Amino acid sequence: MILDSIETPAVLVDLDVVERNVAAMAERARRAGVRLRPHAKTHKTVEIGRLQLAAGAGGLSVAKVGEAEVFAAAGFQDLFVAYPVVGEDKGRRLLALSDRARLAVGVDSPDGARTLDAVFRAAGRRLDVLLKIDVGFHRVGVPPDQAVQAAQSISTLAGLRLRGVFTHAGHAYLAKSPDGVADIGRSEGSILVETAQRIRDAGIEIEEVSVGSTPTARHAMSVPGVTECRPGNYVFHDASQVSLGVCAPEDCALTVLATVVSVPAADRAVVDAGSKTLSSDPLRPSGPGHGFVLGRRSRIARLSEEHGVIEVLPGEGFRVGERVRILPNHACVVSNLHDRLLGVRGDRVEGEIAVAARGRVQ
Ligand SMILES: Cc1ncc(COP(=O)(O)O)c(C=O)c1O
Repeated sequence: MILDSIETPAVLVDLDVVERNVAAMAERARRAGVRLRPHAKTHKTVEIGRLQLAAGAGGLSVAKVGEAEVFAAAGFQDLFVAYPVVGEDKGRRLLALSDRARLAVGVDSPDGARTLDAVFRAAGRRLDVLLKIDVGFHRVGVPPDQAVQAAQSISTLAGLRLRGVFTHAGHAYLAKSPDGVADIGRSEGSILVETAQRIRDAGIEIEEVSVGSTPTARHAMSVPGVTECRPGNYVFHDASQVSLGVCAPEDCALTVLATVVSVPAADRAVVDAGSKTLSSDPLRPSGPGHGFVLGRRSRIARLSEEHGVIEVLPGEGFRVGERVRILPNHACVVSNLHDRLLGVRGDRVEGEIAVAARGRVQ
């Protein structure tokens, strides 16, 4: 099948680029001597997860128990739910899952941890947990100066085993320059390593020191003492990574194929991909628009649900029926909006990839 025969809008994944990105990150982790545990939230597909393991990843990260269930059912045997999981209902699902996979989950409070402990303790089992540390993103996680106290409380719970500490330096997405990203990456690694050491000094064993985001991966994984890295977006990259200076446009694997459905004015063209296809996520660190039109300077300036409005720059023209490829701002949310991705090499469509863990938000 060739691209011209594909109905739009469609999400295309350039398999050559995915394979290159997967191999490059795997090599980077090998050189740094850390385990790569890619975050599967980006692709949510069994096929790309297998590609990552084949390249040397030592397991996958996921964000939700439901995602872990999908990957465990597909035979993935080492999974980390990199999210503070709370609730006995989740605990019961994790207990069932722990028969099928080596499992760990995030915790960021003794109160949350106790809800999982109750289930595993009653079953005479232990669940591995990693304590989330806030290294500056200020989303979830224990501040470093409260980590020893939290680790001490959690380590008294008989149904849990504190495997390590983890963090995500999401604030790197707001950095103003590549140097700013590098600084955040280095401090992500060093704050986490120091925090792990303080917990060890208090007599608690810490085996895993897990960092991870695509912008900071190369910097954070090089800090001595880091044992694991969990980048996700790198498999696809997107306009935000380009704008942060993390990669070049040719390193972006995921694009949206769209059709121009209307050219109502010389400065306006409309494609059949709106927020339901591209998502409304902004360009990071900050910037206008909702995606680049490949090969053109004009951008998607605004979106409604089924319409993407291109602000046509002087000298550029679009015609009704023309097909364009759009590089979205944020690839992870695009795959979550679609049941399938189309794997392509050049103009040839190799086949469909089911977004198997899509929508597993519980
Ligand atoms: C906890 C956690 N780890 C790892 C990642 C992967 O980061 P990135 O998408 O920048 O590769 C994320 C992304 O949101 C995350 O929330």
